Amino acid sequence: MRTACVILAAGQGKRMKSSLPKVLHRVCGIPMLQAVLDTAGRLNPERVIIVAGRQMDLIKKEVTAPDLRFMLQKEPKGTGDALKSAMPALKDFKGVVIVLNGDTPLIEPQTIRRLLLLHQKSHSAISVLSFHAEDPKGYGRIVRDSTGEFRAIVEEKDADNSQKKIHEVNSGLYAINHDAFSLLDRLAVNRQKGEYYLTDIAALSLKQGLRTSVFAIGGEAEFMGVNTREELLRASELMRQGIVRNCISRGVNLLDPASVYIHPHTSIGRDTTIYPNVFIEAGTKIGSKVTIYPHVRILRSTIDDHAVIRDLTVIEDSHIRTCASVGPFAHIRPGSEIGAHARIGNFVELKKTLIGKGAKASHLSYLGDAVIGRDVNIGAGTITCNYDGQKKHQTIIADNVFVGSDTQFVAPVKIGKGAYIGAGSTITRDVLPGALAVSRTEQRNIKDWARKRQVKAKEKIGK
Ligand code: UD1
Ligand code: CA
Repeated sequence: MRTACVILAAGQGKRMKSSLPKVLHRVCGIPMLQAVLDTAGRLNPERVIIVAGRQMDLIKKEVTAPDLRFMLQKEPKGTGDALKSAMPALKDFKGVVIVLNGDTPLIEPQTIRRLLLLHQKSHSAISVLSFHAEDPKGYGRIVRDSTGEFRAIVEEKDADNSQKKIHEVNSGLYAINHDAFSLLDRLAVNRQKGEYYLTDIAALSLKQGLRTSVFAIGGEAEFMGVNTREELLRASELMRQGIVRNCISRGVNLLDPASVYIHPHTSIGRDTTIYPNVFIEAGTKIGSKVTIYPHVRILRSTIDDHAVIRDLTVIEDSHIRTCASVGPFAHIRPGSEIGAHARIGNFVELKKTLIGKGAKASHLSYLGDAVIGRDVNIGAGTITCNYDGQKKHQTIIADNVFVGSDTQFVAPVKIGKGAYIGAGSTITRDVLPGALAVSRTEQRNIKDWARKRQVKAKEKIGK
């Protein structure tokens, strides 16, 4: 079956009370429209078309998908007019169009697949996906006659009191054969709202004697349409729970599933343990048997197998290799890489820094624009002075160097293999391999100094 997807996203979303187009409001960190696009993509349609309105440019910047086309609906004149706006992009298309609302982010691909199958089996021209809503308010009602035959979709605003009591409602998802497209030209404007309702296409199609079906499949939660911020919060929470459940079913160990936030564009391996209050954000890949302690935030990073990320650590755009340990209280800033078995301890900040295999920086350091070799020991309080007020400079420390505590490296500077840096040094020049560099002044011990000082003080006040 040839399929195309059209996603309606040109509505203003007045009920959100926001200047941002409704479909760009985020659920679990992604725009609702992106969630719908991701679902559409899983169906492998021939084309995906987004119908957008005046804020199309903004929408184009915020969402991505392969072979995506945008069509403009000049004025938000209703969902029927929106689908009609997509037609020029479907002129030569012979197949089934799946219509999705940009504000129903939780729909599952397998539900759409089931609808397509039923659509095909029943030889329908139009199929509507309905569901049973606990509270049907706001949804279009599925009106059937006394024999149970489908008759029409009636919007809340146009429904009489008995129709308002119907719990079977329209999900906003339809399968429409290309030969029924012409019905879009015959939609009448709704007098109440002055809009062209796509929902009217169902009754119109029945009238034309076309086979028109309504299928009630899938669970209520997945069809939730988001019109208000409160509904956005609910949808986001439902999506979060879905992601968490999916992780658990794939073998991730979550100590407190209620407090963990996992972005939909992430992956987490088996037997990884995640403690409470952890945020795994966009583009993060976590291997297996990793341990992530409480209050950690990881963004666009890769964490290899067996790594340990300790409490209150932030990791951005970086790579943590196998068996490395980071934190507690570490800040790993973009462009950093921590080698296998390396250890980054408390209050250590890295920026664009490579830490070699087995190296250690256990306490209170800033390492920026640095390349640090294997098995290097960075003493407590080591600082790379990488910025001269105008430019950034590099510090290069070769394998097996020992850096004593409270050292400053005034970059650019290079330290050769196996060198030693005496504690408290300010290193401004390169150090040769195997050398010792010390730059502190020598210590003086003055005997009896304290007693003599006291005597002097007493003489002064004449005692
Ligand atoms: C719509 C359906 C309703 C269904 C519900 C499911 C209509 C008339 N009603 O109602 O039967 O139960 O979805 O969630 O279709 N849009 C445009 N251009 C417009 C208007 C809307 O592109 O001119 C887009 C919106 O951006 C949105 C989608 O269409 O993504 C649905 O529009 P919305 O106004 O939210 O429709 P509902 O009132 O929720
Ligand atoms: Ca809606």
